[in-house]
Amino acid sequence: MRQGVGVPKIPIAGPSITQKEIDYVADAVAHAWYGDAGMYHARFERAFADYLGVKHAVALPSCTSAIHLALLAMGVGPGDEVIVPEITWIATSAPITYVGATPVFADIDPRSWCLSATTFESCITPRTKAVIPVDLYGNMPDMDAIGEVARAKGISVLEDAAQAVGATYQGRKAGSLGDVGVFSFHGSKTLTTGEGGMLVSDNDAMVERVQILRDHGRVPGDKAFFNREIAFKYKMSSMQAALGLAQLERIDELIAKKREIFAWYQSEMADVDLVTLNDEAAGTRNVYWMVTVILADSLRITAEEMGRQLAERGIDTRPFFHPLSSLPAYRDHPQASEAALQNETAYSLSPRGLNLPSALNLAREDVRFVCESLKEILRDAGRTSI
Ligand SMILES: Cc1ncc(COP(=O)(O)O)c(C=O)c1O
Repeated sequence: MRQGVGVPKIPIAGPSITQKEIDYVADAVAHAWYGDAGMYHARFERAFADYLGVKHAVALPSCTSAIHLALLAMGVGPGDEVIVPEITWIATSAPITYVGATPVFADIDPRSWCLSATTFESCITPRTKAVIPVDLYGNMPDMDAIGEVARAKGISVLEDAAQAVGATYQGRKAGSLGDVGVFSFHGSKTLTTGEGGMLVSDNDAMVERVQILRDHGRVPGDKAFFNREIAFKYKMSSMQAALGLAQLERIDELIAKKREIFAWYQSEMADVDLVTLNDEAAGTRNVYWMVTVILADSLRITAEEMGRQLAERGIDTRPFFHPLSSLPAYRDHPQASEAALQNETAYSLSPRGLNLPSALNLAREDVRFVCESLKEILRDAGRTSI
C-alpha cells in the first residue's frame, strides 16, 4: 500500500506541460518586449476567441478579475441583486460585493449540480440585474432554459466557465452562452497559465468598457497616459499569455485526457452501489475538471471521513463546495439563513460530495488504486453491497 512518509501523493489537480509550453514561455521572455510586448496576448486572445466562436477575448490576471469587470460592464451596482448557484467557489460571488450589489443564493439541480432555470426563476425579484450560471466541475447547466427566463425578465447572463474550457452545450462552447463568459487558468485548471483568466463576449460596447476598466481608465493604445476615470490594473503578463497559447494549441489533447480519466473511474466504479459520479446530460459534453463522487444518503460514512481515510493512503481529495450561504463569509448576509432552509439539494449533496484525483498526469494504475481504496473503505465501513 502507498502509505507513509516520503510516498508521493496522488494529486488532486495539476497541469500537463510539454516542451511546447517551455519553448513558448522562453520565447516570450526573450522577445516579448518593447514594440512586441503584446505579441503573445494578441495571439492568445485571438486563438481563444476563435476556439469559442466569439468575437472578443480579453486576457486578464484571474477569473475573479474577469467577473469583477464583467459585472461593472453590465452596469451592476449598489441596490442590484445577482443570482448565483449555492454550490461554487466563492470567486463567483465575491465580486458582486466588490461592485456594491448583493448576491442571492439559488439551489442547484440534483443531476447536473448546476443552477437550473427553476431555481434561478424562484430567486428573481424586481432588483435582479444579472445571473451567474456556473459550469460546475466541467459540466453544463441547461443554458437555453436559463437564457429564456433571463431574456423574458431583462436579466443579464454572465456565464462562469472557470472550470469548463472545452465543455459544450448543444454544440456550443462553454463560455459563449451568455452575454459575457469568463474562464480561469489557475494552476489547477485544464488549461493553465499558472494564474490567469479570460473574459469573452460578442458585445463590442461591453468589451470596450472592459478594456478601459482593466487599464486604469485608459482607452486601448493610449500613449498619452490620459486617464478618463479611476479604474483597475488587471493585466496578464506576456509569459502567461505564451503559456496559455501553447496550452490552447493542445486543448483537444488536454480534454481527451480529462475524459479518459473520467472513463477510467467510471469503469473501476461500475460495480459499486450507492455512489454517484458526475453526470453528462444528452446534448452536452462534460470536460470533467474534477471527477466527483456523491455518497448515497444511506451510507454512514461521510465524505469528510472518506477524504481523511484516502489521505492516509496518500490520495489527495477536496470537499465538494460548501453552500455559499453556509460560509462564515456570509454570516451577516440578509438572505443566507433563508437560503439555508430553501436550498435543500445543495445542502443535501455538499456533505456527501468529494472531488477525487483528477490531475492531468494521472495514470490508469493511479485511478485503479484510488478506486480500490475507496471500495475498501466502503467495505470496511460495512455499508455497501460490494
Ligand atoms: C467557478 C469558479 N469561478 C471563479 C473562479 C476564480 O478563478 P481565479 O482563481 O482564476 O480567479 C474559480 C477558481 O477556481 C472557480 O472555480
